Amino acid sequence: MPELQILTRRWTLDNGHTLRGYLDSGGFAGLRAAFDLPPAEILARVKESGLRGRGGAGFPTGVKWGFVPQNLGKPVYLVINADEGEPGTFKDRELMERDPFLLLEGMIIAARALNCRRAFIFLRGEYLWPGIRLEEAIAEAYGAGWLGKDIQGSGVDFDVTLHYAAGAYICGEETALLDALEGRRGQPRLRPPFPAVAGLYACPTVVNNVETIATVPCILERGVDWFRSLGTDKSPGPKLYCVSGEVVRPGNYEWPMGTTARTIVEESCGGMLPGGR
Ligand SMILES: Cc1cc2nc3c(=O)[nH]c(=O)nc-3n(C[C@H](O)[C@H](O)[C@H](O)COP(=O)(O)O)c2cc1C
Repeated sequence: MPELQILTRRWTLDNGHTLRGYLDSGGFAGLRAAFDLPPAEILARVKESGLRGRGGAGFPTGVKWGFVPQNLGKPVYLVINADEGEPGTFKDRELMERDPFLLLEGMIIAARALNCRRAFIFLRGEYLWPGIRLEEAIAEAYGAGWLGKDIQGSGVDFDVTLHYAAGAYICGEETALLDALEGRRGQPRLRPPFPAVAGLYACPTVVNNVETIATVPCILERGVDWFRSLGTDKSPGPKLYCVSGEVVRPGNYEWPMGTTARTIVEESCGGMLPGGR
């Protein structure tokens, strides 16, 4: 299977980061499909897709969403983990810079599935460019009715707040992140309770990685069977691989889950630099 262009499909466009460019290149198709489905059906499809979290632990996304209780009488929050502090990782950065609306689309779909009205993007403080692009995208989305009240006449109300983190590797851990977002020093919380039940402001909260949520729209747009045709049985779908070091062309490359480092280095990176091992 060749290199993919699903998460990266707008990365070669000059205006892929604008609302116009997003719409002209088929943006919001997944969301339009989601608006026609009941929340439980969206959740079922994400579960059936087998999508696993792209933030490191690989927890099944639909299962995590399913843990959120809807009967507590409290708001449900969605928090996007955009802290990306792991050395050698820079996939979320490029995703947010080049296609911020893909993240927003995934967030609105998640919001509908979770009955959530407010989300926060916890952005690594040093990520200036992704922050600028996200601020522009969020402003454009509000202006054109893709965020805020009654999004595109769907009945979905959804607000997004961009939060610049103060900068600490540990704040990428989801419970330390929640403490930092609440204004305290970022230190991991004892569990239980888990964030799904008592997370941000002690309310049910889903914390997901940027790439995880940016992968959701293609599931709704192209279907579960298509998604499962990529990658491995236990970990399907497309994946961004960050390559740095002694290769000819370092960068982010999109391949199915389960692709070997050898394939990516040889077919996308132009091989090793002379003398590199
Ligand atoms: C020390 C530490 C740092 C972490 N840093 C990040 C990070 O920068 N970005 C991220 O998405 N997840 C990070 N995680 C994982 C999160 O705790 C959490 O599992 C993840 O955000 C869940 O999202 P996902 O299910 O979509 O992968 C970190 C975990 C630990 C223990």
